[in-house]
Amino acid sequence: MPKILFTGKREVVVDEGTSILDAALSSGVSIYHTCGGNASCSTCRVKILKGFENLSPIEEAETQVLDSFDLKTPFRLGCQAQVLNGEVEVEIPKWERAPRPNKTPKVP
Ligand code: FES
Repeated sequence: MPKILFTGKREVVVDEGTSILDAALSSGVSIYHTCGGNASCSTCRVKILKGFENLSPIEEAETQVLDSFDLKTPFRLGCQAQVLNGEVEVEIPKWERAPRPNKTPKVP
């Protein structure tokens, strides 16, 4: 059975074809997924440290998102990259959401 090591977090055994996002969510590993796994937001981006060859090929929709955010190998979208066999080591980049603008009107 394929295995995913989420660096610094945990190792999970998954069924063949499980996406990195699904594996993370089902094992309690926190990962953004703003568009719900539809290859349109890039918030699920992950860095593949080992086992890139054990993932599903990059399809057109994923290519478009990666290109639009200038993300190159070894980045993949967690919602699109499925683990096919072997072991994959994944780093979930630390990044911050932009702070929300303060919508409270200023009192003069
Ligand atoms: Fe939006 Fe993966 S969850 S691109």
